[in-house]
Amino acid sequence: MQIVSQPQSDIQTIHFFTKESLKQAQLSLLSNIAFEAGKKEFAHALSQDKNYFLIGLGEETTQKALRDIAASFAHTYRKKIAEEDTQIILPESLDEHQQENLLIGLFSGLYTLDKKEAKSFLQWDHSIKIVTQHAQAEEFVQKAKSITEGKFIAMDLLNLPPNHKNSEILKDFFKNMASEYGWEFNSMGREECKKQNLHSFLAVNQASAHKPAFVTLQYKPENAVKKVVLIGKCITFDTGGVSIKPSENMHLMKSDMGGATTVLGTLIAATQLQLPVHIYAVFPATDNVLSATAYLPGDVIASHAGKTIEVINTDAEGRMTLADALSYSIKEYQADIVLDIATLTGSVVRALGYQAAGIFSSNDKLLEQIQNIGNETGERVWPFPMWDEYAEDLKSDVADLKHISNTPLSDVIYAAKFLQAFTHDHKSWVHIDIAGVAFGSNAYSKDRSATGYGVQLLTNWLQSIKAED
Ligand code: BES
Ligand code: ZN
Ligand code: ZN
Repeated sequence: MQIVSQPQSDIQTIHFFTKESLKQAQLSLLSNIAFEAGKKEFAHALSQDKNYFLIGLGEETTQKALRDIAASFAHTYRKKIAEEDTQIILPESLDEHQQENLLIGLFSGLYTLDKKEAKSFLQWDHSIKIVTQHAQAEEFVQKAKSITEGKFIAMDLLNLPPNHKNSEILKDFFKNMASEYGWEFNSMGREECKKQNLHSFLAVNQASAHKPAFVTLQYKPENAVKKVVLIGKCITFDTGGVSIKPSENMHLMKSDMGGATTVLGTLIAATQLQLPVHIYAVFPATDNVLSATAYLPGDVIASHAGKTIEVINTDAEGRMTLADALSYSIKEYQADIVLDIATLTGSVVRALGYQAAGIFSSNDKLLEQIQNIGNETGERVWPFPMWDEYAEDLKSDVADLKHISNTPLSDVIYAAKFLQAFTHDHKSWVHIDIAGVAFGSNAYSKDRSATGYGVQLLTNWLQSIKAED
């Protein structure tokens, strides 16, 4: 992808206009077409036999609105864009973040469900010119590319059918990604997990036909200023287990590894951008199915942290796998910050719908930093309380704690409270519940599909981490 400061006239052109930049434009073809640069107004003209697309941004200034407009244009014209060398003209009146988001939107809008798209995007990379005079162009173009690459791979993986991404397949996939991106790869199977006391994770895998894979990928730049653990819920398919889910929407539960795909996408973007953060990406991979060997409601299970857990509902499996992943990685990696991200509860969807993820943290400042980035990017997070009274309802008669409350209310909070019990009081732990935002309606699919939520949020956050924080 080439960055140039002046447009050329003999090449297919995508030209973004704000109301403001249209007034200043001196473009002869504008006199022949009706175009006012209104929000989401698209016009098409021919100039020297080449397509000339005009895209109106109206008065929009937010990153999310700019992405959405660009994505909607790109989705409609994706074939034409991919066919030819193209220049993209960005409005000078927009700052680097706004220009970056126009590019992220434009690239993201090219996504299709055929899995070759991520690859082909990288292939026609060379046929795209970005026209901007912005001094930070080099940085923000690279950023837009890296985030898109991370998002596409994350989305491809989440959209895969469950029979194509069981834990054994995933383990190999992560291994291949590790060699492609230069990460250290480690995976623990059943025996090793047992040795490490990951009994709560293993309980979920007990019914499975596929071996569990507790995978860690490590990105370790020499100039790292902080050590961060990113844990992604990695349930390759969630039937609910013995507490089986209704079948109506069960096929959507291939999305129950949305936390894992967000972490993977973020790791890709962070690596491409060479961010100075040492990252451990942790994926406790298994499905949650049922068979004669399944874990049962009423079972009392041991865990890495040494606490016993009374299982009440086998459909609350994510927190079983994350409890061990948290405790293990906190003890093992001694990181400055530990973040887990998970499609954890239906409760967060009832509370926030599709507009934000739920966020919890032991560190108010950290929570505020992520929330601010969420507000800027439009990949929003919204905080919930973790008052001690909630922990009262997780007391069990037969174990140290149970994994859900007897009251069917505010499970999003009980889930976080449960996880907190396995964090060894880590001072900078963050939990993000993305059940409402990871998988939703998209222009590129008829049914719900992966949104790529979180890759931009977490990448921007990692980029904002300073040594003195
Ligand atoms: N994977 C689900 C949560 C989920 C729900 C993700 C909707 C995406 C969309 C999780 O494992 C689950 O089933 N949670 C139960 C917990 C309940 C049994 C306490 C739920 O939310 O119903
Ligand atoms: Zn479940
Ligand atoms: Zn689940």
